[in-house]
Amino acid sequence: MILAPSVLAADKENIEKEIQELEEYDVKWLHLDVMDGLFVPAKTFGPDFVKRIRNMTSMFFDVHLMIEKPIDYINHWIDAGADLITFHFEAGNDPIKVIERIKSFGVKAGISIKPNTKVDEIRDLLPFVDLVLVMSVEPGKGGQKFISNSLEKIKKLSGGDYLIEVDGGINESTGKQCIDAGADVLVAGTYVFKDKNNINILNKL
Ligand code: DX5
Ligand code: ZN
Repeated sequence: MILAPSVLAADKENIEKEIQELEEYDVKWLHLDVMDGLFVPAKTFGPDFVKRIRNMTSMFFDVHLMIEKPIDYINHWIDAGADLITFHFEAGNDPIKVIERIKSFGVKAGISIKPNTKVDEIRDLLPFVDLVLVMSVEPGKGGQKFISNSLEKIKKLSGGDYLIEVDGGINESTGKQCIDAGADVLVAGTYVFKDKNNINILNKL
């Protein structure tokens, strides 16, 4: 299992210390939630923030774009240092074009579905992606409750040639259920940053 702590719940004023602590726990991935105030009501950070932390760590940067029309912005996130860019199926571009654009830079491409989007809607795209991100909360903010129909989606996605990532409301109990259902990557914000010892708990699931 790969753990991807979400920077959304980190103390951004002390981001260097937060990242060092994650490295001490041997965390390999960092999940970066990008919100534009359009696809979701909130706005988070731009590429400059990611560029800044790119200089602090060699962790794998897992960029989750919760933005409209992602195709217009892919190059900015590549420049910032993304290793994987995941965009939303619901974001209003031809998904194949977005995947091709991401891959044209030699970066891995992921597609994400919101809680009300069915796995069957993205079936045709699965051969082209490196990762599928199942949102287990409505995208937009941290600290929400895990939506349990996500487990069925993870099961449906199992067995393909891509990683299955799950994001939202992950803790010891929901994390275990996701792993049992077939998830490869767990995103956790609140649970990890309220007590970094929880990293060890998730790693043992
Ligand atoms: C929500 C974000 C998540 C969020 C998860 O829109 O995509 O990555 O940070 O936060 P928790 O773990 O608190 O649910
Ligand atoms: Zn996310």
